[in-house]
Amino acid sequence: MAKFGLLSFLVCSCIIINAALPAQAQTASTVSKLSKTDPLNTVLLQGFNWQAAKSTSPWYNVLKGIVEDAADAGITDVWFPPPSQSHPGGPEGYLPQRLYDLNSNYGSEQELRDAVDAFHQKGIGCVSDIVINHRCGTKQDDKGMWCVFEGGAEDGRLDWGPSAVCVNDKPYACGSGQADTGGDFTRAPDIDHTNPAIQANLSEWMNWLKSHVGFDGWRFDFALGYEGKLLGIYAENTNPEFAVGEVWDPVANGSDGRIAYDQDAHRQRLVDWVHSTGDRATTFDFTTKGILQEAVKSNELWRLKDSNGKPSGLIGVLPQKAVTFIDNHDTGSTQQNTWPFPPDKLILGYAYILTHPGIPTIFYDHFVGNMKTEIKNLTAIRKRNNINANSNCRIITAEGDLYMAAIDEKIVMKIGSRYDVGNLAPPSPDFSIVTAGIDYCVWEKKSSSP
Ligand SMILES: *[C@@H]1O[C@H](CO)[C@@H](O)[C@H](O)[C@H]1NC(C)=O
Ligand SMILES: *[C@@H]1O[C@H](CO)[C@@H](O)[C@H](O)[C@H]1NC(C)=O
Ligand SMILES: *[C@@H]1O[C@H](CO)[C@@H](O)[C@H](O)[C@H]1NC(C)=O
Repeated sequence: MAKFGLLSFLVCSCIIINAALPAQAQTASTVSKLSKTDPLNTVLLQGFNWQAAKSTSPWYNVLKGIVEDAADAGITDVWFPPPSQSHPGGPEGYLPQRLYDLNSNYGSEQELRDAVDAFHQKGIGCVSDIVINHRCGTKQDDKGMWCVFEGGAEDGRLDWGPSAVCVNDKPYACGSGQADTGGDFTRAPDIDHTNPAIQANLSEWMNWLKSHVGFDGWRFDFALGYEGKLLGIYAENTNPEFAVGEVWDPVANGSDGRIAYDQDAHRQRLVDWVHSTGDRATTFDFTTKGILQEAVKSNELWRLKDSNGKPSGLIGVLPQKAVTFIDNHDTGSTQQNTWPFPPDKLILGYAYILTHPGIPTIFYDHFVGNMKTEIKNLTAIRKRNNINANSNCRIITAEGDLYMAAIDEKIVMKIGSRYDVGNLAPPSPDFSIVTAGIDYCVWEKKSSSP
């Protein structure tokens, strides 16, 4: 969730319907992941969409059902939805209240732990969505503001008062914390992350998510809501195997109102943000997302090469910190669909991100849909050629209807309508086709074929 300022009604003033379920000690059976994944080899699966919170059977059980497929596809990490109880106005988990209460619209705490264990058994890491920019109170303060917070733990952990809220928050004018260091989220009070006690309390909670549930990493929601260096403190205090921040700012538009060719300033802001965390977090490559979807939409594949001849998104300058994706729960789910990839070109998007440098993410809807085999073939090619976040990309052609690139000189890929599969010549006699579909093809160097 990165949209803010659009919905200004005070959702936190609703009556709380659910009775609090205390976070109780469970019979611990947490299965740790056997070995660490090299962050450069991460292939991420987003394990939910916007509809998941309304699933008829608990979402965690649905997710557990794709463990085998995920392992087959070479997924190294799965991104779970926000784990905590959330305000009824935000059943998807992005209006969290009692952070220690892990019974949510996605299922019970036990179902969550079972799903995490099931992924761990296959060596797949579990990444928790961390929503800490803002938080919904459960009680009113003496001025009638919903700025009294309950943690959901029996011992008062994460019970806070208005001192946790930024002094300049709008519209929750209850806070006595420091001024906000980032964007305002208007549907809930923004938390003062400069406060060392807040940092300690939330770090303790995140470390509890690691030890109690078994989470291995973090996806930080709305990372523009507070300074990157503060997010870096949470990463430092909790030492995740993988961390990614959602830094969603709009791509630049040209004078024609369409997205501009030159997105260097946009991706530089992502680079600066990564550095502001002390390089402790990666970030979603919104630059590549914007450029790639525009390029495939209207046969403008020249957009994929920057003025230096490199990929034009964040992967062209800081690939080891760039988490590429095609769509997520905000941009692409049917109920959100705020900035969708062209639905008839999705596989071209995957043919690009799964062969290119960066850390690719596969969206749940696409993973379980009719592209599953094609996606699996692409991830298998990535794996057996040791393509990783830092792989070299040599762009051969970037013209309207043809983009072609060699990755580590081990594979060559093309997207675009020029040449159908029947007319494709290998880039050299050493290469042969290993996968192909409508408007895409991948060749592999013959010696490395299975
Ligand atoms: C927050 O952290 C501070 C500093 O460690 C600690 O004294 C306090 O008890 C914690 N409060 C809550 C509500 O977790
Ligand atoms: C570019 O245009 C889109 C669509 O009108 C808009 O949402 C976006 O904010 C614009 N980008 C910038 C940087 O202003
Ligand atoms: C994907 O791989 C399977 C199994 O190797 C193969 O039968 C199928 O033809 C491949 N599909 C594509 C599009 O390459």
